[in-house]
Amino acid sequence: MGSVGAKDVPVLIGEDGRRIDGRRADELRPMKITAGALHQADGSAFVEWGMNKVMAAVYGPREVHPRHLQENNKAIVQCRYNMAAFSVDERKRPGLDRRSQEISKVIAEALESVVFAEEYPRTSIDVYIEVLQANAGTRCAGVVAASVALADAGIPMVDLLPSVAVGKVAGHIVLDLKKEEDNFGEADMPMALVPQSGRLVLLQMEGRLSKAEFATALDMGVAGCKTIYGTMKQALRDRYNVTGSDPTEAGQ
Ligand code: CDP
Repeated sequence: MGSVGAKDVPVLIGEDGRRIDGRRADELRPMKITAGALHQADGSAFVEWGMNKVMAAVYGPREVHPRHLQENNKAIVQCRYNMAAFSVDERKRPGLDRRSQEISKVIAEALESVVFAEEYPRTSIDVYIEVLQANAGTRCAGVVAASVALADAGIPMVDLLPSVAVGKVAGHIVLDLKKEEDNFGEADMPMALVPQSGRLVLLQMEGRLSKAEFATALDMGVAGCKTIYGTMKQALRDRYNVTGSDPTEAGQ
């Protein structure tokens, strides 16, 4: 968030309570997920979410590189989040900067917590996330794409991992921030949820929220993740032409 004059700040919430793109506070941007979008990878997924376009490719379990990272009793999850030079308005210098390294690390940790890693000792599960077009929330789109890609690769997991950012914009708590809201808003809080257990495996925060605002934001994010979870499961059903009941909803 840079310092800008008041005249530069767009109207983020209109008098009708609608956001800059017409959404209500708790509304997600449109999302489309294509599971198995790439032929060469063991598993893949392409996520189009608002103006974000993010591809994830999964390889493994396979030999660990570099070798010294190998763990005797479990697989490791390695992740590389990368933004294409043409993905943002101002051309991004190619290569891994500090931001990409941080995002790669938090995504790898989130994914590792849902993969049954002990089933594949001394191996690596490699996740590549390529952001082709960015409009805020790309780490969340990356988590969504990566977890569908892991499922597509047949890697056993506790659950899929829906993810979304919540935040504060012009004094309002809102779901799924787009670029202007991220740039000019007061807070941005990406999260990832294990839906079946309700456990949060990624939670970051930029900006400030009061305790009450945090609680509201968390509830909004959890509800958003549950909606996204449905879209993720549908993408996998479409990929494998599965019809009929959803096993994760058994007994509900
Ligand atoms: O993308 P995400 O919200 O997870 O991460 P961020 O660091 O909060 O970045 C927010 C947005 O800023 C990105 O999605 C891009 O649209 C934009 N950005 C950019 O234009 N140039 C960069 N080098 C990094 C981010």
